[in-house]
Amino acid sequence: MKATAISFEDFRNIHEARVEFSPGVNVLWGANAQGKSNILEGMYYFARGKSFRGVPDKLLVRTGCDFGTASLTCRGEADVYDTHLSVTFPTRGKKRITRGGAPLSGVKELVGSFRAVLFCPEHLSLVTGSPAERRAFLDIALAQLYPGYVSALSVYTRALAERNALIKQAAEGMSVEDHQWAVYAGQLSRSGAAIVSWRSAYTDRLNDLVGQCFRDMTGGREIPRLSYICACGSDAPPDIAHGGEAAVADRLYAVLTERLPREIGAGTTLYGIHRDDVAIDLNGQSAKLYASQGQRRSLALAMKLAEGAMSRSVGGEEPVYLLDDVFSELDGERREYLLSALGERQVIITSCEAETVFSHIPDVALFAVSGGEVWRKR
Ligand SMILES: Nc1ncnc2c1ncn2[C@@H]1O[C@H](COP(=O)(O)OP(=O)(O)O)[C@@H](O)[C@H]1O
Ligand SMILES: [Mg+2]
Repeated sequence: MKATAISFEDFRNIHEARVEFSPGVNVLWGANAQGKSNILEGMYYFARGKSFRGVPDKLLVRTGCDFGTASLTCRGEADVYDTHLSVTFPTRGKKRITRGGAPLSGVKELVGSFRAVLFCPEHLSLVTGSPAERRAFLDIALAQLYPGYVSALSVYTRALAERNALIKQAAEGMSVEDHQWAVYAGQLSRSGAAIVSWRSAYTDRLNDLVGQCFRDMTGGREIPRLSYICACGSDAPPDIAHGGEAAVADRLYAVLTERLPREIGAGTTLYGIHRDDVAIDLNGQSAKLYASQGQRRSLALAMKLAEGAMSRSVGGEEPVYLLDDVFSELDGERREYLLSALGERQVIITSCEAETVFSHIPDVALFAVSGGEVWRKR
């Protein structure tokens, strides 16, 4: 899949702009706070159905305006014609989403039409960051590939919030009936087990792909290992590959029932997929504790490339790679590796580095971004 063009009207700091991309390497180049990341934010909205900055839609509308619009034209590998996608954000009321001019009912219908992998500086700390960052990595990737994942995650999130409220009431001495606990244990264990199943299968495939990437990068000297850690209150979590989803659901149900007094004491739900993690090892040792900064960056880079490979293998389309400010964070060797690994794929890089950094890249399309305006330089 390639993005052909994106245009904006009153989106963030952009009054009006249109960018026509090259199918290879594109660089959005300019000083800080000019609108480079805003362009990627607009593009990634079509992949994820929300802003990658985690802000409400109304902030995407240019200050002082009532509406903002982002429109993306893209083309799948087997397609003869472009697909036109568009989102209009009002400051009040419902947004309007269209595909090929026809209205869609919501972002759920939109997600899947355009595939992209976003790589930004925060991702460089995927290895050292909190488990929440690694869970977010999985959630964001899986949500774009499997609509059922989004539903399971929203069932889980709602049940967890309600159960936590109930735990607080119980901790304050209010009586809660057993069947209420049973309802939540049921919801959390069923949706939780489905999520564990998706996440751990994804992690296994990611492990293979990250391993391949590392072999290419280091000539086989360093062997990474990624494994999904299920926090279901056991030293030996159920083996999802052998016990299956039902075993995980049983285990979660049991722990939520048996350890309820401990959870009431703690004032929150202590067990479940909201505490899970991905363990990342390098040559048999925890990468978080032992790997050098360079190795951790290589791991993060390999995980992002693997995310792209997974998107291609499950979604059937090569995603567009969006690199927000990350290129300048990598050293020369990793930059070279990244560009060669991406090969013929489409990549859009934002950078405030000297234009000359990109001058050796063949056929690079260079766009200057300043004050919300964009024009092609080269
Ligand atoms: N809703 C908005 N309306 C107008 N300007 C905005 C809005 N949201 C962000 N901005 C402006 O956009 C600029 C940041 O753009 P950004 O794309 O993050 O910069 P960069 O080029 O460094 O990536 C800031 O000047 C900010 O004030
Ligand atoms: Mg930026």
